[in-house]
Amino acid sequence: MNTDGKTVLVTGSTDGVGRYVAAKLASAGAKVLIHGRDKARAKTLADEIKREGRGEAIFYSADLSSLAGARQLAEAVLAGHRRLDVFISNAGIGSRTQGTERRTSADGHELRFAVNYLSGFLLAYLLLPLLKASAPSRIVNVASLGQHPLDFDDVMITKGYTGSRAYAQSKLAQIMFTIDLARELEGSGVTVNALHPATYMNTTMVREGGITPISTVEQGGEAILHLAEGDDVAGKSGLFFNGMQPAQAHPQAYDAAARKRLRALSLELTGLSAA
Ligand SMILES: NC(=O)c1ccc[n+]([C@@H]2O[C@H](COP(=O)([O-])OP(=O)(O)OC[C@H]3O[C@@H](n4cnc5c(N)ncnc54)[C@H](OP(=O)(O)O)[C@@H]3O)[C@@H](O)[C@H]2O)c1
Repeated sequence: MNTDGKTVLVTGSTDGVGRYVAAKLASAGAKVLIHGRDKARAKTLADEIKREGRGEAIFYSADLSSLAGARQLAEAVLAGHRRLDVFISNAGIGSRTQGTERRTSADGHELRFAVNYLSGFLLAYLLLPLLKASAPSRIVNVASLGQHPLDFDDVMITKGYTGSRAYAQSKLAQIMFTIDLARELEGSGVTVNALHPATYMNTTMVREGGITPISTVEQGGEAILHLAEGDDVAGKSGLFFNGMQPAQAHPQAYDAAARKRLRALSLELTGLSAA
């Protein structure tokens, strides 16, 4: 896909690998809808893109630790744009962001599940009419190799909480959603894939986890760009990639009954089932 002139939303593009991806897409001539909470970092990126003089950057501020924030972002994108060619759901928090204690979102959901998974689920559904109208279009869910099965009796991890379990559960939920949504979107011209971009890139999330980085944002960023624009993945959907290669996710991702439970729960928690 030639991204020149295309409209691409990259959540979590004020920092880390999302910032790299947004800058590269703008260099290729895309209109990039950049997103995050930090206005100063967003401005620095938007100024950089403006100076380069190729693509365009428009900043959307929204806090994805509340479902209202996700809705507000979707509404602003729908109101401001007549097309959306690619939606890269990348915003996320690590296993130790805001400390090692269990935390909850504005809606009372376990925080990593809320920010890393539920807000992306809601955004994808709210943006689907525009993505369908812009087909062929793509959704890229930035997940991870860190995956932990969901315990449907305690999805909010009220017992036995650890940040790494919460993070890995949210990342597997993204992959389960990817497979499920791909089935739903068959024949629509909208594809959806998930990936592990790279292991321990040098980003804020990794550094604040006290981990020594072992990959660069360029490595992970190129893997995300591959799914967003690569010709070899055109028409492919419902896949999980480790970097550039198709890979197997945790077995729970291939359990249709588990995916059905997650979908029902997510529709209920986001209020979409009532719509
Ligand atoms: N780093 C790795 O090695 C690695 C490995 C596998 C997967 N991943 C995945 O890659 C994605 C990006 O990670 P990264 O390492 O680039 O992280 P990062 O440098 O910490 O950047 C995270 C981005 O998400 C945004 N964000 C965080 N919380 C938010 C919230 N509540 N509302 C709105 N935006 C929020 C941040 O924006 P503001 O600060 O402006 O809000 C920032 O732009 C994540 O989904 C992560 O799970 C990373």
